[in-house]
Amino acid sequence: MKKIQQSPKALLLPLLVSSVLAGCVAEPEPTETDLELDVIIEDQDLEETVSESDTLPQISDPLPQLGMKLFYSKSLGGEFDSACVTCHHPVLGGGDDLSLPVGVEAVNPDLLGQGREHVDGLPLVPRNAPTVFNVGLWDTSLFWDSRVESIGKEEGANGALSGIRTPDSDFGVADADAGTNLAAAQARFPVTSAEEMKTSRFEADSDNAAIRDHLAARIGDYGEGEGELDTNEWLTEFQAAFASAESAEDLITFDNIALAIGEYERSMNFVDTPWSLYVEGDLDAITADQKEGAKLFFTAVNEGGAGCSNCHNGTLFSDGNHHTIAFPQIGPGKGDGATGDDDFGRERETSNPIDRYRFRTPSLLNVAVTAPYGHSGSYQTLEQVVRHYVNPRGAVGAFYQRGGVCQLPQFENIDNCGELYPNSESNTELALAKLANERNQGVSLFASPRLNDQQVQQLVAFLEALTDPCVEDRSCLDAWIPDADTTGPDGQQLNAVNENGGFL
Ligand code: HEC
Ligand code: HEC
Repeated sequence: MKKIQQSPKALLLPLLVSSVLAGCVAEPEPTETDLELDVIIEDQDLEETVSESDTLPQISDPLPQLGMKLFYSKSLGGEFDSACVTCHHPVLGGGDDLSLPVGVEAVNPDLLGQGREHVDGLPLVPRNAPTVFNVGLWDTSLFWDSRVESIGKEEGANGALSGIRTPDSDFGVADADAGTNLAAAQARFPVTSAEEMKTSRFEADSDNAAIRDHLAARIGDYGEGEGELDTNEWLTEFQAAFASAESAEDLITFDNIALAIGEYERSMNFVDTPWSLYVEGDLDAITADQKEGAKLFFTAVNEGGAGCSNCHNGTLFSDGNHHTIAFPQIGPGKGDGATGDDDFGRERETSNPIDRYRFRTPSLLNVAVTAPYGHSGSYQTLEQVVRHYVNPRGAVGAFYQRGGVCQLPQFENIDNCGELYPNSESNTELALAKLANERNQGVSLFASPRLNDQQVQQLVAFLEALTDPCVEDRSCLDAWIPDADTTGPDGQQLNAVNENGGFL
């Protein structure tokens, strides 16, 4: 995935030579590692991956502002107890800090992160909530199994050019209603999920179109949704954002709701990382350990590296493809396998068994703030993830040795946590067997590096250099979070609190 705009990056060596000639002392002396990295940066065209996009919306623009209010409104939850932000809060890395999300029917709907519990105890959502940061940079697909997918995957287009396949259309076929980009297309689906936002009671047995129409009518205060909100100032908001005088029926459609939400998400562009500064020539932007980690990351296993950029490459550090990695499978699963609690990943979309247990390579931008990791949130730390690559079978064994889900903050206080997901280990074993099989056949891009403890730490340090400082700074994130003194256009704004009752 390449960025649209090219940034002018001074070549390292000429710059150093000229500064030495000019008697400039400010320029740090390049270490041997800097020189080696310079070759990698040149060979792999990494400057192209760190430049800013100029095609994404700004949060101060009218549509993202409207989208933010919708993203935080519980009115899009069938029974007013879940909003998009429930699982994607900026302060929680654009995710929810949980292994598996708790959407509807939480004990306290406004409590996000650790401590959020379903009234019946266990989370009902089978996959980890990925970050919504930098969603505008995906050109291939969204979701762990890419079930929202650009047909042509044009670079820099965010799916806008060639049509988008969604769960509402057949595999490989564009959904005529998908909207203008991947973010808008994706935003049509959480509201239709009983576990995430809808509840099983709201519009029970209705198709996706009927669910969306009802919610739009609720927001627009017309037709079947009329009077469902005690306070309703949405028409004013929509007319301002779309610069339109149209009626609620014409303006407050689900298409426009999804468009605005998508623009809000696309304004969350957090790519100014220490690593990008380094690639652009600031030798002091990252530490010596991070530099060693970078070398490992971008060097193939058979050349002494860790081979990570085989799959984690481009602006987002994702090839947009699907791979078998065999992280532990925990939770209720997607209804797959003999016991119904497995998750076949990409195979669910392609119907091709070759894609079983393959998941879309996640982005690594801001990965330090998006724990837990993997499609079911089973690894809690970056070190655990890196050790999985070194020895997948050993790392999985260690995961169950440590107590499986019982070691995860979300489950550790559940009395019978050891009995929650009895097939977790055997399901994971099947994924490990698939990985071994792919390796035997030479079709896996996953080769295990030999790394000592120091190198593991260096790789983790490099991953931490992929964090935009804004995502760790509450005042910087302010622009993406409505003021908690307000309740929004409909009195349903989710002003999130943590388990201690403080506002996020
Ligand atoms: C109950 C938690 C929950 C709620 C509420 C929720 N999401 Fe998500 N979101 C998830 C999970 C889980 C996934 C991954 C699902 C999968 O891949 O199968 C996801 C995936 C996404 C993605 C794809 C990210 C990527 O990199 O592939 C986007 C974008 C997103 N959600 C936006 C939204 C929007 C917009 C809303 C509101 C309309 C919303 N979410 C509501 C849990 C939630
Ligand atoms: C063969 C392709 C491939 C290679 C090589 C690879 N990864 Fe991954 N990576 C993936 C996929 C696919 C996932 C998601 C797996 C899952 O959820 O089951 C993932 C997940 C991750 C995650 C968790 C991210 C998140 O948000 O959940 C991290 C961190 C990570 N990889 C780092 C690395 C590092 C470091 C290396 C090199 C040692 C590496 N990866 C090598 C494909 C790859």
